[in-house]
Amino acid sequence: MTKWIASLLLLLLLIVAMPLPVASAHEAHRKDMSDADIVEMRQAAETAHDGGVEALAEAAGGSAANNGAMSADIHGEMIAGHSAGTAFSPTDFLGRLHPALVHFPIALFLAAGLAELILFARPESGLEPTVRFLIYTGAAGGVIATLLGWLAGGIRMSDRSETLGLHRWTGTGIALAGVVAAIIIYREKSDRMLIRLLLAGIATALLFQSYWGAEMSLGPNHMNM
Ligand code: HEM
Repeated sequence: MTKWIASLLLLLLLIVAMPLPVASAHEAHRKDMSDADIVEMRQAAETAHDGGVEALAEAAGGSAANNGAMSADIHGEMIAGHSAGTAFSPTDFLGRLHPALVHFPIALFLAAGLAELILFARPESGLEPTVRFLIYTGAAGGVIATLLGWLAGGIRMSDRSETLGLHRWTGTGIALAGVVAAIIIYREKSDRMLIRLLLAGIATALLFQSYWGAEMSLGPNHMNM
């Protein structure tokens, strides 16, 4: 019975502790920490996480008295770690939506680029309205993602983290380029070559942008290249 309870606690601990490094990474970006400081903080969080799991696993095999004492200590620390950063703030909440929202401009602009490429190869495909729709929605998604990004990364002009700085200004540039593309394609006689150049630029920038974003969320060298 004690083993069952300890195993259940271990499972709960894993669920609760898993998002810790991610949550602290979010705080780190808002607090303008450098890339090196963030790496150090992640390592410390992972060591603490592994230590906690090991201690609870030991407790699962140990005496009932140890079990209670250890799991209470570990949970106390975990809860303190969480609640330290959990006072509700609307701007913090909106910033935390950034990783979910970014999928829209990425997918919509890449699909716009693909549709424009097909249109270039087969002008009779009738994809003009599709490209127009994808650029409008991609531009709207880009502006929203960028506004939320500024809330996620903190509002300032320069960053101690090189990755965040590159990501901030490339993202802002993508949003602006998307709005320009939407204005151009809104016109009756839009400049197709300019649209193609803008879409090629946005698509290329999005690849780098997504890579830098994931470097921040998942940690350095997340692709293990
Ligand atoms: C079109 C614009 C943007 C796109 C497509 C984009 C894309 C991304 C992606 C793919 C991630 C990783 C999400 C994940 O792994 O779950 C990310 C994370 C992040 N982005 Fe952006 N981003 C954009 C604009 C911005 C801007 C302007 C900022 C301003 C500083 C920003 C700040 C952040 C931060 C701080 C993170 C790390 C997550 C966090 O700490 O909450 N992003 N972004």
